[in-house]
Formats: sequence, C-alpha cells, structure tokens
Amino acid sequence: MRIAILTGGGDCPGLNAVIRAVVRRTVQSHKGEVYGISDGWAGMVEGRLMPLDLKAVSGILPKGGTMLGTSRTNPFKIPGGVDRIMENIRKFGVDALIAVGGEDTLGVAARLHDMGVKVVGVPKTIDNDLSGTEYTFGFDTAINVATDAIDRLHTTAESHNRVMVVEVMGRHAGWIAVESGIAGGADVVLIPEMPISVEEVCNHLKKRHERGKNFSIVVVAEGARFQDKDQVRTIVQDEKVDAFGHVRLGGIGAILAQAIEERTGYESRYTVLGHIQRGGTPSAFDRVLGTRFGVAAADLAVKGEYGKMVGLRGNKIEAVWLKEAVGKLKTVDMELYEIASVFFG
Ligand code: F6P
Repeated sequence: MRIAILTGGGDCPGLNAVIRAVVRRTVQSHKGEVYGISDGWAGMVEGRLMPLDLKAVSGILPKGGTMLGTSRTNPFKIPGGVDRIMENIRKFGVDALIAVGGEDTLGVAARLHDMGVKVVGVPKTIDNDLSGTEYTFGFDTAINVATDAIDRLHTTAESHNRVMVVEVMGRHAGWIAVESGIAGGADVVLIPEMPISVEEVCNHLKKRHERGKNFSIVVVAEGARFQDKDQVRTIVQDEKVDAFGHVRLGGIGAILAQAIEERTGYESRYTVLGHIQRGGTPSAFDRVLGTRFGVAAADLAVKGEYGKMVGLRGNKIEAVWLKEAVGKLKTVDMELYEIASVFFG
C-alpha cells in the first residue's frame, strides 16, 4: 500500500506530528510506504512527491510548521489541474491520499473524492472552525500563545493605566478570541459571531473604571464586525481574494483602540498577534491530537474508508464524512461566549 500525504492552507503547529504518525503507522504497523507531497495541492498538480521513510520523519515531532511545505493552491482553479492530479496518482502508484488541512484543502479533497480519488482528511487549523470535530490541532497552541500575550499585556496596561486592544486571528470564527479571552481574563471579547457597537465596548470599560480599575484588556478577533446603526462592518487589510475566495482580514484592533480613546479619553494601544499564533513548537495537546489523528488517518486509508475525515468527538477519534466537515463553518458556541461575557466590564 502506498499512501501519499500533503499539508495545505496556512501552516500550524502539530502538522509534523501528523506526518510522523502517518509514516510510523503505515510503515511499522501496516508494512506500507508513504510519499510526501510538497507544498499542498500545488505539489500534487506538479508531481512533486518523494518517499518518506522512518529516518525522514525522525526528530520532527516538536517542530512547528510542516516539513512538506504548504500552499493555498486550488487545483480546480488551475487549467488542467485536476487532470494532472489524476495523472500523478497513476504515475506515482498512489493507492490513497491523506490531505491535512482546513476547510479549503479538505473542500478540494471532498470534490476529488466525488471524482473517484481515494482520499482521507485530517482537520488542521488554528481557527478551530471545522465542523465534524470538537477540536482541530493547532488551535491549542494558538490559544496558549494568545493567553501568554494577554498576560504580558496586563502588566504593562496596569503600569500605564491604559486600555490594551489585542487582535487575534481566527478568520470568520471567534474561537481563538473567546478561549484566550477567558483564559487571559479579558474585560471585553469581540467575535465575528456577535457584532457589537463601539459604544457598548466603551460602556463596559467605563463600568470597570468606575469600580476602580484603571486599565483594561480588550480581545478582538480579526473577523469581528462593528454594528454601526443598521450596518455591520468587517475590516479587511486587502480586498483581493485568494484562490479560495478569502479576503485578508485585519486592522480592526487599530480602529477599535482609536475609537475607544476618542470616546472615553482612556489612553489606548493595540497589538496584533498575527502569525506568531501559528509559528513555533506545538503544545503537548496538539502533539497528542496530531499523533492520534495521524494514526487514525493511516488506519482509515488502509481500511479503504475514503471520503472521510478523522475527527475528535467526546475524546474519541471518529471518522466523519468530509462533506459534513466542510459543509458548514463551526462558529463559536454562544454558551461559551456567554461565559466570557460574565467578566465584561
Ligand atoms: O486560517 C488560518 C489563518 O491563520 C487565519 O486565522 C488567518 O486569517 C489566515 O490564516 C492568514 O493567512 P495568511 O497566512 O495567508 O496570511
């Protein structure tokens, strides 16, 4: 059995744990072999595959990023892209593909499966916005980085009597904001799922100042939206869309900090955590989850359960249909947001 594995979309901590687990499980338990595909779907289109043996994956478990490289390539947008994937599957004698990615990479996998490709998915993203799994790997590391940043911003906010606005990633879901906000003790958390007015934010901060707290931490998701009268506004860095139709989000932190200072008179600063949330060594949780996902994905491929993704449900790894996973974005559970909001103001 020859399995080929690719990592697509934005990188995240834990990708190497998955690759290592797929290779170890396939080679040692199933006596099969694994090929690594470079740079996501781009490498599959261009036929950039190489054998991955046990030596190749030795020592990669604690390393961030992906040893295979990644890209946001959509083969359906490349003329002849899908045909070239089919040709390369034949040329390299690939019996099954394992695609490790988020909604875009796995969306491509689901479409290819409909066309007869034998593919298994593994859910990856710091955004935690994939359905069919309670957690994606990468998310835990991202919220730990964000929580550490919030802790650090607390001490400087307190020393200077300032409002600190922290902009975190997450695209159109507020998971990173809400979980790091709860863990870091944020005084307001803004998420895309719950448009909020600047006035409301300022009221929370004023309430806090009235009870003697002269500094505050506001966590804002990059995709959070302002409710201006009857209009909802998303802030983008660039209107240009990528191969999957996404704009580049970002910039809401700066706008919010300025608006808060203007309305309240409280000195405000902002910090954009950006790709720091995605880089570096994976947390223990992400190493364990990535390893469990990798072993389970190799098993699914060997059993011939294609068109499925491994997912975490009730702390068990289960196989879910790729179509179910990519069909709908998993947005923040409002009960969790309600818990965060207990601490606003
Ligand atoms: O999906 C992961 C993510 O990090 C989002 O949170 C963010 O909006 C986006 O990727 C950034 O993408 P890029 O690395 O292309 O700037």
